[in-house]
Amino acid sequence: MKTVGILISGRGSNMMALVEAGIPVALVASDRPDAPGLAWARDRGIATFALSPKGIGKAAYEAEVDAALRAAGCTVIALAGYMRLLSDDFVARWRDQIVNIHPSLLPLYKGLDTHARAIHAGDRVAGCSVHVVTEELDAGALLGQAEVPVLPDDTPDTLAARVLAAEHRLYPRILKEFVSR
Ligand code: GAR
Repeated sequence: MKTVGILISGRGSNMMALVEAGIPVALVASDRPDAPGLAWARDRGIATFALSPKGIGKAAYEAEVDAALRAAGCTVIALAGYMRLLSDDFVARWRDQIVNIHPSLLPLYKGLDTHARAIHAGDRVAGCSVHVVTEELDAGALLGQAEVPVLPDDTPDTLAARVLAAEHRLYPRILKEFVSR
């Protein structure tokens, strides 16, 4: 069985869904020492690691994150609302072992503001995707997707809330399959 390290930048609701689903999580790490999800993980006895790249640079920051993940015994990295781009070097060191959840039906709407873009385009269906992380943003092999209807009066916020609920169902299911491969 593989062991997972989760990287978060904020509220961490996907991380919480993964932990609550029984995914074997050895470390929760964040680039934001004040990320609310860190305290939640600590309260549940999960090891945490927090370091900001500010002041030390991306290479030193990523070397520390890499060391913390390996020291905790992680063999898989799950990005869960982690809002930084990992360097090509980091991705290469964890080749095919990093997965991400993205709030759109990839390959549609890579990057940010996915819900506003889906509404603006007049899409009837939105959703979320779990994919393998490669050097190219939001472009690695798809592992699973969930569709969510776009309602006529949806705002980016109301659509985001409905997609987030779908993320909480999709990510644990896909990651469970991934770690038991
Ligand atoms: C989620 O909607 C996730 O899909 C998105 O950020 C949110 C994080 O919520 N991720 C991205 O946009 C990555 N590019 P969470 O911190 O509550 O899990």
